[in-house]
Amino acid sequence: MPSDEARDRVRDQSLGIAAGWSPPDAPASWALTAELFRAIAEEDTLLDLAAAIPADRLPPLLLSAALRHLVARDAPVPLAGYFPTAGAGQPPLDAGFRPALVAFAAEHADEVAGLCREHRYQMNEVRRSADVLAVLAEIDPDRPIALVDLGTGAGLGLHLDRYRYRYTGDDGDVVVGDPDSALELACTVRGDPPAPRAVPRIAARAGIDVEPLDLDDAGVRAWLAACIPPETGAVDRFAAASAIARADPARLVRGDLVDTAAAVCAEMPAEALLVLVDTFVHVFLPDDERDRFRALLSRLGRDVEWISVDPLVPLGPEGRDSVQGLPVPERALEASRAGVTGVVGRLSVRDGAVSGRVLGLAHPGAAWLEWLDQPR
Ligand SMILES: C[S@@+](CC[C@H](N)C(=O)[O-])C[C@H]1O[C@@H](n2cnc3c(N)ncnc32)[C@H](O)[C@@H]1O
Repeated sequence: MPSDEARDRVRDQSLGIAAGWSPPDAPASWALTAELFRAIAEEDTLLDLAAAIPADRLPPLLLSAALRHLVARDAPVPLAGYFPTAGAGQPPLDAGFRPALVAFAAEHADEVAGLCREHRYQMNEVRRSADVLAVLAEIDPDRPIALVDLGTGAGLGLHLDRYRYRYTGDDGDVVVGDPDSALELACTVRGDPPAPRAVPRIAARAGIDVEPLDLDDAGVRAWLAACIPPETGAVDRFAAASAIARADPARLVRGDLVDTAAAVCAEMPAEALLVLVDTFVHVFLPDDERDRFRALLSRLGRDVEWISVDPLVPLGPEGRDSVQGLPVPERALEASRAGVTGVVGRLSVRDGAVSGRVLGLAHPGAAWLEWLDQPR
């Protein structure tokens, strides 16, 4: 039986995930995601299952994936009908969802617990490339880059030049990227982010992950699909991005990113600007590993940009520190207290000197990007 402490912790995390992904002004298509995580927080059957998962394995998220995996496999009626499938839109949500979910979880409790033991939560959100591109626009869109995606998962972030981007702000839309891409990543912008003029040329690319994911494996694809929030846009994006990545696979290196980054970076062309990207990765590293990574940057012996989109640490409403060790604006603290929020930061190494700042805030699924006013 999980302890009260574990239940309280998981309840808070689950409510934070619901609030971060689906704040009050979120489109209606996010309501199922919010209801799923609220149900995990509020229903004993679900909370007990989640609280039994070790704390470092993202209990509410891992439980949500295990449940979705079984629902996709068994197609139970009516539960399966609440979940979106690729290309089919967002089914309506009603009061029948929660009891159906709880009953299904109770019936499959042992199998759910087994899946949670065997798997890790592996969310791949390709739209975070829109956050990364906004930072690249601030750097130098005309200089070719060598892209190293840290914690790349299935490698979707490595193909950022193969997508089209639509940034919608008060002054209308900015559209950049591949006009013929099968995938458009739409992001609402607040504040005044630099408008990307183009996607920089990618001279070389490689991803690092402790568990790189082979999209050609149907079992892997099924698990990854179960880790996607049950929102029609996210489901469609994953399907389209998977097809793009499978058509032109990038190099994925298996290894711990702190141990492996220097060797992978050493293989990158010297004339390109080395850009390290981490989206929702460093938040999961222990404090001493994050310190070790930061110390590594100035030892790479070349100019480096590290673009990070990560919640503050520790993960949750008490988050107060940037994973990049940057000063954290009050607005970022406030947003993090309200729900899981990505903090967009840029850390640069030029001639061995390190500088950086927090630039903005991002919805965990990159539905919006808020650029922060910068101190003069
Ligand atoms: C939440 S996923 C994010 C995936 C992707 N960056 C995205 O935003 O869609 C975190 C990824 O980091 C990887 N990861 C976690 N710790 C790592 C480490 N120490 N070294 C390499 N990869 C790691 C996990 O395996 C997982 O694929």
